Amino acid sequence: MQSRSDETIAPASSFSPPSQAGYTGYRASRGRGSVGDSPQLPVEIRNYLDGALSRLIAVVSPDRTRVDRSGVRFFRAPGRVNLIGDHTDYNGGLVLPMAIDLAVFLACLPSRNVFLISRREPGLVALAPDGSQAVSNYSLPEWGRYVQGVLVELTERGRPPKGFYGAIASQIPPGRGLSSSAALEVAVATAALALAELSLSPWELAEACRSAEQRYAGVACGIMDQAISIMGKAGHALLIDTARKSAEQIPMPELFDIVAIDSGVRRSLAEAAYNARRQECASALQMLNKDGRIGKIDTLSDITEEHLNEATKPLPAILAKRVRHVVTENVRVRKVSEILRELYSLYRESPDPKSARVLQSRVDSCLAKLRELLEDSHTSLVTQYDAGHPTTNFLVEQAAHEPGYIGARQTGAGWGGSVVIFAKKGTGADLARSLIQQITRNPQTRNIAGPDATAPSFHVCKSSQGASEL
Ligand code: GLA
Repeated sequence: MQSRSDETIAPASSFSPPSQAGYTGYRASRGRGSVGDSPQLPVEIRNYLDGALSRLIAVVSPDRTRVDRSGVRFFRAPGRVNLIGDHTDYNGGLVLPMAIDLAVFLACLPSRNVFLISRREPGLVALAPDGSQAVSNYSLPEWGRYVQGVLVELTERGRPPKGFYGAIASQIPPGRGLSSSAALEVAVATAALALAELSLSPWELAEACRSAEQRYAGVACGIMDQAISIMGKAGHALLIDTARKSAEQIPMPELFDIVAIDSGVRRSLAEAAYNARRQECASALQMLNKDGRIGKIDTLSDITEEHLNEATKPLPAILAKRVRHVVTENVRVRKVSEILRELYSLYRESPDPKSARVLQSRVDSCLAKLRELLEDSHTSLVTQYDAGHPTTNFLVEQAAHEPGYIGARQTGAGWGGSVVIFAKKGTGADLARSLIQQITRNPQTRNIAGPDATAPSFHVCKSSQGASEL
């Protein structure tokens, strides 16, 4: 079980008060962010990266004495947990992810080509700075395709990278629903832009990274994971409107532990199922536009809740269910964002004894609504989107019996994978340990985990800043 080490590798990130200022432009800059919310480079990771860079240079540089080691630069891009809004990001809908305190770190020094090694992944990535070809004699390891995709995308967007020696260390366990590949793409893109003294808007950068993943790693993902890794902010979740390409920081009340539990169920069919759902949504959109009864729509998220019944009439039952999930999930994302805002402001009020009870009842009513929305989201993913799994169902159902429980749902693509649990502050780790014990001991959940299953694990997520130079 990985839970203990999960907790110890997490750097402390402190809560910062909300700011009304929106996110304006993206250029990796040193020391961005106010004191207290700027992410740190853990000493152990720094030491590893320094050593790894030296080893890399010794291997690939014919005359390493000429490499000036004084200018090493460090970059960081976080993973994420999605609080609510799944399978909406490729339907022009709303999502509410939070950047977390597990990240990819990248150290680099200028070079003629791009040479990159990773602490976790095998092999050496050696590519021309524009990603067009491998440096002679080097074959590209699997993970190098993400790097190549980013270099090509930046070049195609008129932001040609310069070469660098780079070493990567990631705190994000892969395949656990915390978005390790988007963080890798964003870390590489952030470093490449900074080294070339170039910039891109946050949305263009997110598009470049998403497109890298689609074209070079063959994953037809939406834009949520890349966008939050770039635009996340400590103390906040991010309400993203994927059609309008706008994002709003939602302050997180200090009431919760947000726990991501990975069920350990590997989603062997998930990629195929994910692509199938995308296809179904595209078919539904096409049919609705052909039918015309609700007028022309650009995405399924243009359908309002009011028109939902009318909209689903001409559709086959399966497609009607998919549309129902998308439309209702968008509504839930908006409501959860409002509740979090309200809780944040309630929590900041320091009541005199007379109004304390009134305040408490408002908090309780917000928490009850939050629970309902999270659980409805889960039910919709399972019954309307058919993206559930008995083990994640079990986790969500059992969580409700644990002390400190506020609400839970499956998160990310689904078909196994992870759940996100809102628990009262200070109770999240115990709650997660208890649930993991239950799925490990229960013969039913143990036996259906499948041959690729890994040990379940959890992480109590702290919010964090998006990508930056350190
Ligand atoms: C995966 C994709 C995201 C999103 C989720 C489902 O994590 O990478 O873009 O579509 O599934 O919400």
